[in-house]
Amino acid sequence: MCGIIAYVGEKKCRGIIINGLKRLEYRGYDSAGIAVLMKEDGKKNNRQFKPDSYGIRIAKQAGKIAELEKLIKGSDIDGCVGIGHTRWATHGAPTQINAHPHMDCNSKIAVVHNGIIENYAELKEELISKGHKFVSETDTEVIPHMLEEFNNGDLLIAMQKLLKRIKGSGAIVALNSQVPDEIIAARIASPLIIGIGRDGNFLASDMPAVLEHTKNFIIVNDFETIRIKKDSIEIFDIDGKKITREPFKANWSITSAEKSGYEDFMLKEIFEQPFGVKETMRGRLIEGQLDFKELNMTSEQIRSLEKIHIIACGTSSHAALLGKQLIEKWARIPVEVEVSSEYRYKDPIVEKNCLFIAITQSGETIDTLAAIREARSKGARIVSITNVVGSTVARESDAVIYTHAGPEIGVCATKTFTAQMIVMYLVAIYLAKETGRLDQEKIKEILDELEILPNKIQSMLNNSEQIKRIADQLYKYKTFLFLGRLFGLPVALEGALKLKEVSYIHAEGYAAGEMKHGPIALTDTNTTVVSIVPRDSVYEKMLSNIEEVKSRNATILSIATEGDIQISRYSNYVFYVPKTIEELYGILTIVPLQLLSYYIAKNLGRNVDQPRNLAKSVTVE
Ligand code: F6R
Repeated sequence: MCGIIAYVGEKKCRGIIINGLKRLEYRGYDSAGIAVLMKEDGKKNNRQFKPDSYGIRIAKQAGKIAELEKLIKGSDIDGCVGIGHTRWATHGAPTQINAHPHMDCNSKIAVVHNGIIENYAELKEELISKGHKFVSETDTEVIPHMLEEFNNGDLLIAMQKLLKRIKGSGAIVALNSQVPDEIIAARIASPLIIGIGRDGNFLASDMPAVLEHTKNFIIVNDFETIRIKKDSIEIFDIDGKKITREPFKANWSITSAEKSGYEDFMLKEIFEQPFGVKETMRGRLIEGQLDFKELNMTSEQIRSLEKIHIIACGTSSHAALLGKQLIEKWARIPVEVEVSSEYRYKDPIVEKNCLFIAITQSGETIDTLAAIREARSKGARIVSITNVVGSTVARESDAVIYTHAGPEIGVCATKTFTAQMIVMYLVAIYLAKETGRLDQEKIKEILDELEILPNKIQSMLNNSEQIKRIADQLYKYKTFLFLGRLFGLPVALEGALKLKEVSYIHAEGYAAGEMKHGPIALTDTNTTVVSIVPRDSVYEKMLSNIEEVKSRNATILSIATEGDIQISRYSNYVFYVPKTIEELYGILTIVPLQLLSYYIAKNLGRNVDQPRNLAKSVTVE
């Protein structure tokens, strides 16, 4: 939920840290801070420094990184060793005092942290009784004070002792002014990676923070402690045993983490979807032939599957709902979908011949992680679908299917969603093929259609001005109902989530047939109904539902199939998507809804890349 970056090397780090924080701002944006080791000869800030000794200089500010930049403009704060943090508040309001870094009593240790210390109240009490003075309301502040307690000269050992005392989650990075050539770090259940640079080394919550400096990374695992210097990297377990781990090379480019001329990341990422979809099919769908080695299951294992569970949160759970419909229809295997945050509290049943699929773009969502751990403890085989190579969920799965959408920086999921949908199509067809439950002709028809989807998505994007014009008319409405049936239902749910997330307008996604059991009471002249109404097997039913809301004075926007003239009689606005087969309309109909949310939010002056109260990776429960 928060973003961390650290650098130790030959260069001055202020610019490196501020730029890194900007790239991490999608993880949290309510306050930010930086701490740098600087030579402090003589007397400074009421402290007397010995010649050539180092002190820690901190600058932090409530608000976005731009506020921090304003604060340090004109100041000399800079050095070759530093840490930075962008916060998404959990304990304590987003004020300057609660912003990270936090320090010990003697201002010799500075700490940034991403996660939650669940037993902080008890630890704080203990530390206060020993004379420690706290200044913030955060859970994080116990960390520098505990490190101060445990520090006998080597902060790494203090960090190992700390890990044995704290409960919860955390990526922790610390500076020690007494040892000014190193940075110490640790990880429990919050992402942390080491970037290997040419003239220094980095720590960060996520690769985009340092992609402009290096593509070589090492992943830090839970309960590991790290010491980085400008020319060395050491990893230890919680007991101080040294660990060796090979680095890997990231294939993300720096331009994929930049706006490249677009006004916002959200818009850029919507427009990147033809590419993300194509990339996600690449190597799996070749000249009409489907190969899915990553699933790592024999045909016999697939044929014996009696149940599939799919778990996910938010947008990913909508891809899961689509997956359920596809797998059940094509492969005839029963599928249960559950939101991860509910899964582990109900003593879930894990059947003998079942498969457990976790969908998570970040691979770090704590509830999804907890759900796969629960399922694994009951003997489930775990396949994860994620966009982030080496993420925690990926590492804890028996098999990983990567979506190749490229880094997604906008907080709301767009291109990763359509990439997840593609994986759902491919997995469902593959299971159908292996079980022999779908005939070759139908398989060929679907695969052929999938191959031309990127062009169809592109043709809609070329027509985005039309959606913009519709958004210009609709942005003042107070309530939006998104209605869909069958394959249109996950789209309706996702359309509503997108709109509420970025525009803060009340929106609900509903099964169109369920509307008269409650939501229709919401319908009046202030309501826009967005109907997902492609030419599919439930088209006529959808028309009746549209009639029902229209006669209650709602304004109707229909997302329909090109050539459908009839629909305009039922609608105030129509956006046409290209013709495809019934099951594939999901991916075509979501694209205009993403654009609709974007343009409505822009009309309302919202920050679409960083909507209020949200963070990209939800690493707290
Ligand atoms: C919505 C959105 C969130 C995420 C959810 C799960 O636009 O981005 O609802 O989908 O937080 O995140 P992942 O997929 O990373 O597990």
